[in-house]
Amino acid sequence: MDKKVTVVGAGNVGATAAQRLAEKELCDVVLIDIVEGVPQGKALDLTEAAPIEKHDAHLIGSNTYDESKDSDIVIITAGIPRKPGMSRDDLISTNAGIMKNVTTQVAKRSPNAVLIIVSNPLDAMCHVAYEASGFTKNRVIGMAGVLDSARFRAFIAMELNVSVENTHAFVLGGHGDTMVPLPRYSTVAGIPITELIPKDRIDAIVDRTANGGAEIVKLLKTGSAYYAPASAAVEMAESILKDKKKILPCAVYLEGEYGIQDLFIGVPVKLGAGGVEDIIEITLTEEEKAALMKSADAVQGLKDDLKKLA
Ligand code: NAI
Ligand code: 2OP
Repeated sequence: MDKKVTVVGAGNVGATAAQRLAEKELCDVVLIDIVEGVPQGKALDLTEAAPIEKHDAHLIGSNTYDESKDSDIVIITAGIPRKPGMSRDDLISTNAGIMKNVTTQVAKRSPNAVLIIVSNPLDAMCHVAYEASGFTKNRVIGMAGVLDSARFRAFIAMELNVSVENTHAFVLGGHGDTMVPLPRYSTVAGIPITELIPKDRIDAIVDRTANGGAEIVKLLKTGSAYYAPASAAVEMAESILKDKKKILPCAVYLEGEYGIQDLFIGVPVKLGAGGVEDIIEITLTEEEKAALMKSADAVQGLKDDLKKLA
């Protein structure tokens, strides 16, 4: 393949993302983890599936970073996931140290890469990666909105018994309980869901979306969601690798957009070869604005916690 993506963290999200990247023939994949044998074993296993899955992507696993040299994209999933009873924010001190170390290693070897951050708490981890990499803001992007919107879309499709392909949805804000699903901008075949679903059912779907991560954690008991998160990270990577210029909700560094200053938070952006090529500012009602500001306050709190850890 003429593109190369490194996935750091060969756990549930990382290995599933590697599988999807390879099976879609988007790129060659380097899988990195600290646990000896795991990235090598998973990369080999995926390589042995290739003749059946009919792809020619090359996969290698490693415990060091040299193989990651000159990656087009680095997806960072390294860290610990949530267990029942834990919030994403409980992961901050462990994952901040891991994120700083990983980002420093990858930035040295792939100075022109786009970083897609996945580890939680997502918005705070984007700040760590932004500072540790020294990359421009258009090349540090957090994955959360694509996942949260996909959950919203799945629930809309279930509610109306329609194809998921007919659905579009937007979720803004931080990747936490304060996230802001936007029913007005969520549609089925172009029709706003506010015209198709009664308000009490929309409220229930919005609530399920905001708690979508916790719902899976409660069911799995030993970790958090990974199929949909991996799909979301790969959709972002695909838009960048193919310069598709898709508009997707992603956590990006805002400098005044939406009235928010110096914070990573989820908003609609255009993703192309240059990473974030545009931040789309949509009109929000007073209520939606207030919800976004509340979410921004929560992210600011996490950013402040990071300072205390430093
Ligand atoms: P996992 O535990 O299955 O995998 C994490 C991997 O990171 C493990 O294999 C571990 O050995 C590795 N790791 C730990 N420290 C490392 C280091 N210093 N260098 C390289 N590798 C290291 O966890 P899972 O389910 O894959 O989740 C990964 C992270 O992604 C978690 O923080 C989780 O909360 C987050 N997540 C974020 C989502 C989002 O929407 N942004 C969605 C799903 C998960
Ligand atoms: C999720 O939303 C845990 O952030 C992860 O599933």
